[in-house]
Amino acid sequence: MSDDLTDYEYLQNNPSAFVENIIGIEPFGYQKQFMDHDSDRKVFVAGRQVGKSRTASWMALHYAVTHPDSLVLVTADALRQSSELFSQLQSEINNSGLADEQWGIERSTQTEIEFAHNSRIKVVPTGRNGNKIRGFTADLIIIDEAAFVANSIFEEVIEPMTLVSKGTIVLTSTPYGASGYFYEKAQKAEIADTDWHKMQVASSDNPLIETSDIERLKRGKTRNQIKQEVEGEFIPTGDQFFPNPLIKKTTNDDVRRGVIQYASANRSEKTDPNPRTYMGADLGAEGTDETVLTMLDEYGNVFSIERHNIGVYEARKRIQQLDNHYGFEGINVDRTGIGEGPVAELQQKVGNKVTPVYLSTQKKQSVYQTMKSRMESGMLDLPANKDIRLQLEKLGYSKTKTGNLSIHAKGSFHDDIPDSIALGVWALPDAGGGGRSAGAGGMTQIKTIGGLQESDGTTRYQFGSDGDDDDELRRFNIKSN
Ligand SMILES: Nc1ncnc2c1ncn2[C@@H]1O[C@H](COP(=O)(O)OP(=O)(O)OP(=O)(O)O)[C@@H](O)[C@H]1O
Ligand SMILES: [Mg+2]
Repeated sequence: MSDDLTDYEYLQNNPSAFVENIIGIEPFGYQKQFMDHDSDRKVFVAGRQVGKSRTASWMALHYAVTHPDSLVLVTADALRQSSELFSQLQSEINNSGLADEQWGIERSTQTEIEFAHNSRIKVVPTGRNGNKIRGFTADLIIIDEAAFVANSIFEEVIEPMTLVSKGTIVLTSTPYGASGYFYEKAQKAEIADTDWHKMQVASSDNPLIETSDIERLKRGKTRNQIKQEVEGEFIPTGDQFFPNPLIKKTTNDDVRRGVIQYASANRSEKTDPNPRTYMGADLGAEGTDETVLTMLDEYGNVFSIERHNIGVYEARKRIQQLDNHYGFEGINVDRTGIGEGPVAELQQKVGNKVTPVYLSTQKKQSVYQTMKSRMESGMLDLPANKDIRLQLEKLGYSKTKTGNLSIHAKGSFHDDIPDSIALGVWALPDAGGGGRSAGAGGMTQIKTIGGLQESDGTTRYQFGSDGDDDDELRRFNIKSN
């Protein structure tokens, strides 16, 4: 930093004074308190628009400028968010009225600012499984929108980063479900004798926010969303089977067939051009429910989910048609609501790769727990889609008298999509649900990959077909909704 700073040490210990004197803006009271608190574990729980991200960029600048040879990492779940944070940092610098030289900035790229005294601020998204931030040793790590970052990233990547450096961890976020790392640390901060310090404010605590702004923030939101996003409070989700952060971690807008994801480090480079495929089918009983067909590969990539309003006869034809293309290794069909007839017929036409699954309370529990544990270990990739997410979120559970879990859709929501996904996962060889290992049963793999892949080799989620140009498959297309 330039010499005209008179009381360097004072500023070093008082981030809010740094913001006032160097950046030239006065933080709100709660921002000051949060920044100046000397705990090395801090959590900022708040409604929208209270100045969380801005506080984050002030803290990053303050630390890097007043601590030579330090690394500050600012991260968030998504690239969009981390890019915004970087712009915020840049505009704080620009608006300070000090030139880059006065700031001591030596070099700056789109994700990094380097200071002459050898400090750096790095702003990047966490990446899937934390791969974009793995391996750093940081002195200060700030995670914005932390409620959206998976537990495993905190535990396996972020916490280890501060072990050697004894670095500081700062979480800021609007609440998102009452589970996950962010929630747990906010809870922990309330008990005595803890490392964690918490600041919790509502949108209306921002002194510059007007009633009309609050109304705008509330518009179109459910009561629970308002509680979280405007009032800054956690909503208990005690009976939700898949916690939101887990759903978030599992959904992805780029699910590709054949991507081998077990080796997370080089996940995107390794692909299998000819993966084994499986199906889970939840057939709609007599026009009331939907028929949902989930197709996935052996690596847990759910590359297509189809939803149809069709009877069991048409569903059977559709399954046959898809099987002709993909040559599934196993097809699990929920026979709970539809009786044995249709499944027997399907077996006759498609072969013994079709397994009827009767979802008793106990069976349903095993099937869903298999899916959940796969999600937890990052071995399932679901297409990012509102309906899928919603049905997963609305899956509740209760304990039965015998101690089993009864899993069911809450309220008026449906569980056809999760059921078909869970059945598909159950068909995988290592799931114990009837998946056939390679070559078993003398069934040679009928693969028709040629006509199915898009030019870039990807296969995207659609309510319809797999995006291929095969007429036979397309004839059955149903428009997305
Ligand atoms: N101390 C301050 N003085 C004046 N304006 C401020 C102050 N802190 C934040 N703001 C302004 O408030 C608005 C919201 O700030 P910011 O984006 O940091 O909030 P946020 O809590 O991260 O919001 P979101 O929940 O939308 O991500 C911005 O316009 C920002 O410039
Ligand atoms: Mg923000």
